[in-house]
Amino acid sequence: MAGCLERLLGWEKMDNKLPELHRPLPTTGAWSGILEALAFFRDPDFVGQRFNQLGDVYATRLLGQPLVFIRGGRAISDLLSQSDATVGWWPESVRQLLGTRSLANRNGSDHRARRRVVGQLFSAAALRRYSPEIVMLVDELAADLQNAITPIPLVARMRRFAFSVIATVVLGLQGDDRDALFADFEIWTRALFSIPIPFPGSPFSRALEARTRLLARLGGVLKRARDQEEAGQPLAGGLDLLSGGLDEAGLPLTDDDLVEQLLLLLFAGYETTASSLSCLMAAVLQNPEVLPWLQSEIDSLNWPLDEQESTPRLSALVQEVMRLNPPVGGFFRRTTRELVLDGVQVPGGSVVQVALASSNRTRSGEDRDAESDDLDQFRPERHLNGNSGLTLLPFGGGERVCLGKALAELEIRLMAVGLLRQLNLSLEPDQDLSLQLIPSPSPRGGLLVRAMSRNGSN
Ligand code: HEM
Repeated sequence: MAGCLERLLGWEKMDNKLPELHRPLPTTGAWSGILEALAFFRDPDFVGQRFNQLGDVYATRLLGQPLVFIRGGRAISDLLSQSDATVGWWPESVRQLLGTRSLANRNGSDHRARRRVVGQLFSAAALRRYSPEIVMLVDELAADLQNAITPIPLVARMRRFAFSVIATVVLGLQGDDRDALFADFEIWTRALFSIPIPFPGSPFSRALEARTRLLARLGGVLKRARDQEEAGQPLAGGLDLLSGGLDEAGLPLTDDDLVEQLLLLLFAGYETTASSLSCLMAAVLQNPEVLPWLQSEIDSLNWPLDEQESTPRLSALVQEVMRLNPPVGGFFRRTTRELVLDGVQVPGGSVVQVALASSNRTRSGEDRDAESDDLDQFRPERHLNGNSGLTLLPFGGGERVCLGKALAELEIRLMAVGLLRQLNLSLEPDQDLSLQLIPSPSPRGGLLVRAMSRNGSN
């Protein structure tokens, strides 16, 4: 009899626990969001402090924009598992500079169709095609480092490498095209997170002008690739992989559409990968106890590395570096109806920021007491055997998970194995190794190093 009553009330499945009540959304109470915005830019622990006060899901306002911040495995998986109730969202400056056709600004079948087309640039077969050129870039850098008489700033070299991979190896840009594109791209990037008012001479208005030039140049590159393909001439890069790409209605994607996707790839693939490479090298150089542990694995590998060779220690190291310094500190969704995230009610129409940087450094909810907390420490071994107990999503998740993840992982693997197999690197003394965080983490002093060949010569 008692069992029937329980079943009727729907409690039986819950092991006799009371049903969990959904909590209302805690808020900082900010009204205009001006003070919050000032604190946001001044205080690197802005988000973390408010999580500690208000819990893993809370609302505030930044310069008039209401925002819900979330952290921790439960809130994040609740959000990503309800993709029917969310759409992508970017700040207005990013939205305008990427453009309305960019897949980052699209949703539903529009978004899926473009991901299918662009994703062909990052298939396993495409990566196999890019690998030898990436290896050549790594070998060139190793030779430059070894031949240098003065210390070399690794950050600048990692940026150059990441740009070459996406611009030259993937998109096939050469010489003048690449240099002009790089100059405009830097102007464009500087205004990405600026106030989107195009008054004359402002960074945003200069970025809009640079965007027009960038799209025209990318359009020229696309047309040249198509002409070469039609003439049966060999083509640099992977642009041929995009030909025949169809939109959501089964019609060929226009060139105007395709060039906005290429611009997105330059943006998404450059800064992030350069940051992860610089932070990885900084971590190896600053934690001398890690090097012999890593080096014994690296010395057992081939160079150039075979695709199938497994690198558990290097993978654990990369995970730890991205845990402490995720190249993308957070990403956004907008809810289209009320959602419950980690037991907290979030109204429809909310902009939600998934705070990766805060999630990775703190155990949340009931996991908080699960293990002795050493999350401020750099300890790559925690990721061996995949049992760190943390939800790490440096590449995001769900339907919008990073499209270039496999390429980024390949670049990192090849750079780390290529350099550390061939060279002993040492840090120059007296340099600023603290990280600037915007747009992505990177050592302020540029990471000056000297290199010696591991065969004995320098
Ligand atoms: C270490 C390097 C990288 C990191 C940490 C990273 C991280 C991310 C993150 C967090 C997102 C947002 C995911 C979401 O909203 O759920 C994203 C999206 C994206 N990334 Fe990456 N990324 C990296 C490298 C790359 C590279 C090399 C490319 C391509 C060349 C790329 C292309 C993209 C694209 C196109 C999107 C938009 C996906 C969509 O909206 O559907 N990323 N990335």
